[in-house]
Amino acid sequence: MDTGAIHLPSTNENLLEGWQAHHASLFGKHTLKLNHRLTESGLFTEDVLSELVDRYPRELYNLNTIGTDARKQNWREGHLDGVSGKDTIDAIRTGHLWLNLRKVMDVDKRYDELLQSIFSEFEGKVPGLKIFKQNLGILISSPKMQVLYHSDVPGQGLWQITGRKRLYVYPNTEPFLPKDSLEGLILGETHEEIPYESWFDEYAEVHDLGPGEMVLWALNGPHRVENEDCLNISVTTEHYTSEIRKSYAVNYANGVLRRRLGYTPATITTGGLSPYAKAALTLFWKKLNLNRKREAVRMIDFVPDKSQPLGYRDIEPFVKG
Ligand SMILES: [Fe+2]
Repeated sequence: MDTGAIHLPSTNENLLEGWQAHHASLFGKHTLKLNHRLTESGLFTEDVLSELVDRYPRELYNLNTIGTDARKQNWREGHLDGVSGKDTIDAIRTGHLWLNLRKVMDVDKRYDELLQSIFSEFEGKVPGLKIFKQNLGILISSPKMQVLYHSDVPGQGLWQITGRKRLYVYPNTEPFLPKDSLEGLILGETHEEIPYESWFDEYAEVHDLGPGEMVLWALNGPHRVENEDCLNISVTTEHYTSEIRKSYAVNYANGVLRRRLGYTPATITTGGLSPYAKAALTLFWKKLNLNRKREAVRMIDFVPDKSQPLGYRDIEPFVKG
């Protein structure tokens, strides 16, 4: 198999194109749309990704499908069960599936080097920026697949590699992101689901993304994604900054106060002394383990099959180990 040359960028090489000085003041607060050169690393060709899927650890990927009526209750989870990476990507190309490779930097150090390069470049461009807990995922998804309306806890980036998709980004304020939904998300109760109404779209930023384009958006900004009628390969990045960690602590503590103590927090500001008191409460609460997350039982009930119209076939369901 010809996997092509792997070229890892040195940390002083630009992975971003189109950066302007004023973008520094927008980072993390507003949407930034830029061009990127991730494909030049050679790490995202179908051959290289097929080989990566072949050896991907079970506990670090999710293979999913959804009913064509796009109701969340219809989510299903499958497993690869020895189907090759190449056949899996072929099944996704013509089927109705998506494969999410999580924490790729922990599986293959070449992606970790790339991830470090990405964020050291941002640190070099945004004065005072210090990034930690960087995460890199690869999402391989079928034509017309959608990612439904949701919000994420860490800072987010979406880097398009192959195919085209439309990204809708909504304001990270009420009513698009209710305070108790964000708190529930941070407390691990709501699992990213937040209420969505179709009229929200009138207030959305709409970004059509093709190969070599990327978007970063405001912290916790709700978003959803629609693939065009083609195979999509995208990189997702997550990151934390001290500002994000502070916001996390404040929302966590407010969520605890609101739920357990019947207190309605007056402020979500991250300035002044209050956040530190709230961060202390967050730590205290976590130490006492008073907020155990509820773990849903997931069933595995399909495997990829490129000969099937939807790209998979049903198997005898079993509980995910
Ligand atoms: Fe997301």
